[in-house]
Amino acid sequence: MKRLIAAAALTIFTAGAALAADTLTFEAKNGNVAFDHAKHKQVVGDCKSCHEKGPGKIEGFGKDWAHKSCKGCHEQKKAGPTKCGECHKK
Ligand code: HEC
Ligand code: HEC
Ligand code: HEC
Repeated sequence: MKRLIAAAALTIFTAGAALAADTLTFEAKNGNVAFDHAKHKQVVGDCKSCHEKGPGKIEGFGKDWAHKSCKGCHEQKKAGPTKCGECHKK
């Protein structure tokens, strides 16, 4: 029984680490925004749509970028959140 619990705990730990590695959280006073990077890589299909200058930190990333580019794409594709509370979760 003890061994079973240890195994389960290990599975949860590993799954958590894998998730954390590719979900970015952007802190905002009005509620943090969880960004599923892995899922976006899949649905968007290329890196350049968001990383004009190559992968890594995005120059000038912040509120304006997010509201223009994140929300802009969701509006354009008619997929993904466009309302404040759908991105900003308290
Ligand atoms: C829908 C937009 C979007 C797409 C598509 C996207 N990324 Fe990102 N990525 C971001 C954002 C936003 C950040 C955080 C930027 C910051 O903090 O300056 C980021 C951060 C990163 C980082 C920094 C390390 C990290 O994980 O924090 C790397 C490396 C990266 N992306 C690589 C990629 C690669 C490679 C692809 C294509 C396979 C890709 N990204 C596709 C939006 C995107
Ligand atoms: C598509 C997702 C998305 C939507 C929709 C959205 N936001 Fe944001 N917003 C973000 C992200 C991501 C950031 C954080 C960028 C960063 O890390 O600096 C942000 C940042 C902010 C900030 C700055 C907070 C701080 O602590 O500096 C405010 C204020 C804000 N948003 C208000 C709003 C309001 C009001 C709406 C609705 C009219 C809205 N947002 C809709 C994604 C979104
Ligand atoms: C180039 C297009 C594009 C950009 C840029 C983009 N998204 Fe999305 N996003 C999508 C699409 C398409 C979906 C719908 C995915 C689905 O439901 O299959 C989505 C879904 C989401 C969702 C819903 C939950 C989920 O993960 O499915 C959130 C939250 C989100 N996006 C946040 C963001 C934030 C924050 C940014 C900017 C840092 C961003 N997105 C930038 C295309 C984009």
